[in-house]
Amino acid sequence: MVLASAPAKVILVGEHFVVENEPAIAVAIDLRAYVTATKRDDDLVFLKSLNLGITDSFRESESVKLREFKPLEVIIRELERRTGSWIGLNIVINSKIPVAAGMGSSAAIAVASTLAISRILGLELSRGEVSSIAYEAEKIVHGKPSGIDNTISTYGGAIVYRKSEGFISLDCNFSGYKLILADSGIPRSTGEMVAKVRRLKSKYPKVMDPLYHSAGRLTIEAARALRDGDFIKLGELMNINHGLLSAIGVSNEKLEQLVYAARKAGALGAKITGAGGGGYIVALASDDIADRVANALKSLSKRVIISSVSKEGARVEQ
Ligand code: MEV
Repeated sequence: MVLASAPAKVILVGEHFVVENEPAIAVAIDLRAYVTATKRDDDLVFLKSLNLGITDSFRESESVKLREFKPLEVIIRELERRTGSWIGLNIVINSKIPVAAGMGSSAAIAVASTLAISRILGLELSRGEVSSIAYEAEKIVHGKPSGIDNTISTYGGAIVYRKSEGFISLDCNFSGYKLILADSGIPRSTGEMVAKVRRLKSKYPKVMDPLYHSAGRLTIEAARALRDGDFIKLGELMNINHGLLSAIGVSNEKLEQLVYAARKAGALGAKITGAGGGGYIVALASDDIADRVANALKSLSKRVIISSVSKEGARVEQ
């Protein structure tokens, strides 16, 4: 049996703009998706999601019946193809990451699955290979994702990511600071939000292009702030980034309420994280203020999480 895990992510600055090749910064956090893979004696691949309470199975000549398992089928077929034979497997998913929240739960499951299944099949993949196989699964979930989610979930820590160039790891120290996440309670699909932003961009290219350029500059400033440990500056840049996200149409009244409540309670910065339209907001606060920010958010949100940045990317647990 192989148990592997991969972390959730928070985009600190640059979501959506990253889809059009602007740079963005993502960090891994201390919530993880766990996947176990075991070999079977027959040729069946049996899949189980403990979170969704669903199971499915398929053989080499068949497909999964449930669309929720389609990304996993893509991963398994690619890995089985690399072994040159077909081996029966039991796969169990157990994720601690909220779904449709902007925290990259699908990417973390794809990355942890790729790692667990590759190891049980005896394949030694590089991190780059794990990330790119997970990206193929992400395409099924989100349409045309930028690739930032599978990258941060594979490598962990903090990264600056650009679609055309890949990523660089950021040398930064988050000790003394927390990320507080609050659920708007509004579900949404990343693929639909990305398509909505695309429509607005193609309707008003002259208005939108400078916003994209500004978001790219903002990410560069934020990377400098992180490297220098200047969290006040990082918070201010997160606030500006939230304004840009509102401008491209991914905020709503509930998200604004949460963002302003966090700032009023003393957060250094607060913004939508991920695709917006619903999902979670993220607030940055020093350790001593984090509880105050979380309590203020609890009056407006059913789920508030105080999280820390995690250096650990995907890993085999046992
Ligand atoms: C994904 O977490 C956030 C978006 O930027 C989409 C993407 O990068 O693929 C909205």
